[in-house]
Amino acid sequence: MKVIIAKDANEAAVKAFEVMKEYLKPGKVLGLATGSTPLGLYKLMVEDHKANGTSYKDIKTFNLDEYVGLPIEHPESYYAFMHRNLFDLIDIPEENTHVPCGLGDDLDAKCAEYDKMIDECPVDIQLLGIGSDGHIAFNEPGTPFDAPTHVCDLQESTIKDNSRFFDGDMSKVPTQACTQGIGTIMKAKAILLIATGANKQDAVKGMIEGEIDVNCPASILQKHDDVTIVLDEAAAAKLSK
Ligand code: PGA
Repeated sequence: MKVIIAKDANEAAVKAFEVMKEYLKPGKVLGLATGSTPLGLYKLMVEDHKANGTSYKDIKTFNLDEYVGLPIEHPESYYAFMHRNLFDLIDIPEENTHVPCGLGDDLDAKCAEYDKMIDECPVDIQLLGIGSDGHIAFNEPGTPFDAPTHVCDLQESTIKDNSRFFDGDMSKVPTQACTQGIGTIMKAKAILLIATGANKQDAVKGMIEGEIDVNCPASILQKHDDVTIVLDEAAAAKLSK
């Protein structure tokens, strides 16, 4: 694992962009993430598109996850998040973007179809955040490392963390999501994980220095051979080396 420690979240976004920009080329496939963490990077990607004309016309994207039962027009759906913060601000064609479907019947079949699309169009670089409980995407502690894309139940800690986007009301947060499994994520050719803030200290320590254990889902990344982790000083504070 290559670990880069930046001063703060702004500098972490700059460091992450330096990694990502190598992949902003025709034919590349980006794995994208939602949450607060990638926002700084997405801002830099939009600025770069506007200032330098970097084009996304021949780039494809696959997002990690989507809430179950939230209409895509809902501002907190991950579909809406991606359009608001990236897709509508660059020149990527809608048909090149993919976000798991969390609506309708037979979500299991839709999840299997999503994995099939990824197998046919392998991800060159997967962007990840990490939850305070060590989750990646919505793979909560205990999720098998070989899981494919699947429907999962959100843990109470995740519902609490995400309630800040739902008027602070935990009862408004969906209780399930469709998420790429860890098995799917590990197929990406390269991984770029960003973690900032003191609330990620324990998860970051477990990911980098802990045993590889399903109780810290991100610890499996120790087994991937091309991982870059960008931290700010607060998230890195508990690392011993
Ligand atoms: P955050 O979420 O970027 O909003 O902290 C990260 C995650 O839960 O994966």
